[in-house]
Order: sequence, then C-alpha cells, then structure tokens
Amino acid sequence: AKLLLLHGPNLNLLGHREPAIYGRTTLAEIDADLAARADAAGHALESLQSNAEAVLVDRVQAAGGDGTAFILLNPAAFTHTSVALRDALAAVAVPFIEVHLSNPHAREPFRRTSYFSDLAVGVIAGFGADSYRYALDAALARLPRP
Ligand code: DQA
Repeated sequence: AKLLLLHGPNLNLLGHREPAIYGRTTLAEIDADLAARADAAGHALESLQSNAEAVLVDRVQAAGGDGTAFILLNPAAFTHTSVALRDALAAVAVPFIEVHLSNPHAREPFRRTSYFSDLAVGVIAGFGADSYRYALDAALARLPRP
C-alpha cells in the first residue's frame, strides 16, 4: 500500500533546531529510515515537508485520490493553529496518525491544543525520532499484508 509521511513547518531544520528538545536526527535520516522500513514490509512510503500550509493542504487533498492508504503527520506548529489542514484530513478521510518528537503536553500551555488529535487514529508523542518509527509500526499493523 501507499503511505504518506507529512512534516509541517521548521521540521526541515531537524538535527540543528533546539536539539535538546528535538534531537540530533535530521529529517533526511527520518525519511530514509521510514522509507526503508516501509519497503521492507512490502509497502511504499513517500515523504514531504513544507513550511507552507497550502502545500500541505494540497498534498492531503491529492492523497484522497491517489490511493494513499495511510498518512503519518507531524503538523508541527500547525498542530495548534490549522483548521485548514484539519478540514483537509476530514475531507479525504484517509486514516492518519499524529506524530510529535516532543511531548507537547509537557511544554508550553499553547501546545496542549491539537486540531488533529480527535480525528487521528492515534497520537504518538515524546519519543524523539523514534516517534516516527512507532507511528509507522502502528500504521503497518493496520494495513492488509502486501
Ligand atoms: C512538534 C511540537 C510542536 O508544538 C512544535 O510546534 C513543532 C514540533 C514536535 O514534533 O514535537 O514544530 O510537532
């Protein structure tokens, strides 16, 4: 099946950005690791990072018609702001898992609100780059065997 990994704003800086919070693993390393794991399980994973809300909304809309079976999404700061991205996910009704490197509940109060959690199959947060691996495992367990 086709899986889509989406990363929101500033995650292009992973590895350098506030490493005490987000770790030293780069986005390219995360993307390569997940693509290899999906491939080994007989699936295909494509990834996209954007700092622009419109690009993410357009990609989610496209996922509604391109056979994407599962989305892994770290909305980053859009977690706490984007009704538009939420509405796109509700519109296409592709199941998704919300992923965060940090645990937003252990940080500033404004990070406790998510526009995505109630629509998500589940939420994985607080395990650094491993959060993405756990999310992929959860998605693979919910897909039919290839
Ligand atoms: C984040 C948490 C968000 O609050 C923050 O805006 C991010 C990254 C995380 O992965 O921990 O950019 O989504």
